[in-house]
Amino acid sequence: MRYLPKKWWHDAIIYQVYLRSFQDSNHDGIGDIQGIIQRVEYLKSLGINTIWISPHYDSPMDDNGYDVKDFFTVSPDYGTLEDFKQLIHVAHKNQMYVITDLVLNHTSDEHPWFQAAKDPNHPEHAYYKDFYIWHDPKQDKNGENTLPTQWVSWFGGPVWEYVEALNQYYLHIFSKKMPDLNWRNKNMKKALKAAIQFWIDLGVDGFRIDASNHLEKNWDFPEGKPGYEHFSSLPKHHEYLQELGRELFKPNDLLILGESGGAKRQEALQYAGKDSHEFNLLIHFEHCWADGDDTNKKTPGKWAKGTIDLAHIKQSFAYWIDIFKEEGFHTLFWHNHDQPRIVSHYGDDAKYHQRSAKMLAMSLYLLPGIPIVYYGEEIGMTNVDYEQLSDFRDVEVFTEYDNFINNGANHGEAMQALKDRARDNARTPMQWHDGPFAGFSKVTPWINVNGNKTTINVQQQQTDEHSILSLYKTLLKLRKEEDLAYGAVDFYNIEDQNTFNTLVSGKHHDYLMLCNFKDTPIKQPMDTLLDGAFTLYLHNMPTTPQGSSFEPYEARIYRKKSEK
Ligand code: BGC
Repeated sequence: MRYLPKKWWHDAIIYQVYLRSFQDSNHDGIGDIQGIIQRVEYLKSLGINTIWISPHYDSPMDDNGYDVKDFFTVSPDYGTLEDFKQLIHVAHKNQMYVITDLVLNHTSDEHPWFQAAKDPNHPEHAYYKDFYIWHDPKQDKNGENTLPTQWVSWFGGPVWEYVEALNQYYLHIFSKKMPDLNWRNKNMKKALKAAIQFWIDLGVDGFRIDASNHLEKNWDFPEGKPGYEHFSSLPKHHEYLQELGRELFKPNDLLILGESGGAKRQEALQYAGKDSHEFNLLIHFEHCWADGDDTNKKTPGKWAKGTIDLAHIKQSFAYWIDIFKEEGFHTLFWHNHDQPRIVSHYGDDAKYHQRSAKMLAMSLYLLPGIPIVYYGEEIGMTNVDYEQLSDFRDVEVFTEYDNFINNGANHGEAMQALKDRARDNARTPMQWHDGPFAGFSKVTPWINVNGNKTTINVQQQQTDEHSILSLYKTLLKLRKEEDLAYGAVDFYNIEDQNTFNTLVSGKHHDYLMLCNFKDTPIKQPMDTLLDGAFTLYLHNMPTTPQGSSFEPYEARIYRKKSEK
């Protein structure tokens, strides 16, 4: 990709801030924009140059801001428009970029558009009704009204919600407080484009497009349960994205990150290939749930934790890196705000906490592509330590808990599934120090701080050259020096379920990265791997490792002796 005209984002090292949980500056228990401003220096010291913030718009917060009530204002929870402008100013002054989440698939049910749409007596009802997706009830064999289809929402339960005043159902593929927008309505598109232009004019450098592959629906509304294929990745959603690309994204040189689970090579390039007008970077999730258990019927789907299929994780990286080789940029990340914390998920958050967190970082951050570090990952923050259902906050948790119990799970099994997989795991307050509320706030936060803040926090790791945080700094610096965004990688023994071994090619050197992904010792064929050409460069052990025996989660990076 070096031959392409250089764009600012080719050197991006992105940090995803979950706004609600990063830093509370006004001590109301909720993270905010001034909080991010206070931490710009911290992010700079980490080696970050691009901040992605989760939705900052006014919202009833049913889904922490993904339910937008007003696209033109900042949520009072997070600050004011002035604060937002200041963030852009401070970031730019520090040679950093800001990208925000853009929610285009749905609004809040409290958005004025929906308020008008659902109320036949509203003066603008006729105009706004078609901004959303409505369906008449169906009749069962007894003549009783039933749901239009059996489609299931991503948060569990039906996608249809009845509005008596209209004797119709509206479609919501997420929570019932998030009605889906009708992208076939030209006025709706125009209104959304005005909102996008507003933030561009304020100076944002890009967007992450939320739920981007769901914009089009199958308007024949065929039957199906769960029926995901009727509201996911339908061809026409590309047209909508291209329209935005042509009119707004390309002319303003924005970095556009889009998410789409399930895309394969051809569609991936359609989204984010070098000639695409849709995104610049595609976020897919193929490596994110590589430890499922199809036999678990009580807490099924993403909630069922099984054995890690490491071969699948490596194959997924190899596949995606290959797709974008010479055709675009690969997006490099372990997880976002919708998946469990990586050290708890694929590592060990107890006995081998530090070592496995470092191993996970070493295996990921030498790979080609544009990296996204998720807040708290750089200190090895873990899944929640909650014991009560009432400790959880996420809208999806409560529907799913009931589903688990209905499926025959007992309370303990249901709680375990939540503790392993719920999205709240990755949304607890940032652990800045070991004092009250981990330095996130001076008052009880909206979601409890993890009790392990006493041992896992920024302050402690900042002064420890062997900390996870220090390793992140080293790795991100190495990425820059070696231009690893443009690097190349070969995976060794990709089918092997124990090792994550790669040969990475940087601008100046080649690196051999060898990891034991398991909690038991293994042996590696060192003579063959090193072939006398490499010396040890970095490792995650308390003392310099030698020989062919790798301790649990041990990782070593060797550097080729000869420079290029
Ligand atoms: C976001 C989720 C959100 C959902 C609905 C996803 O793409 O990542 O956090 O709940 O969209 O907006």
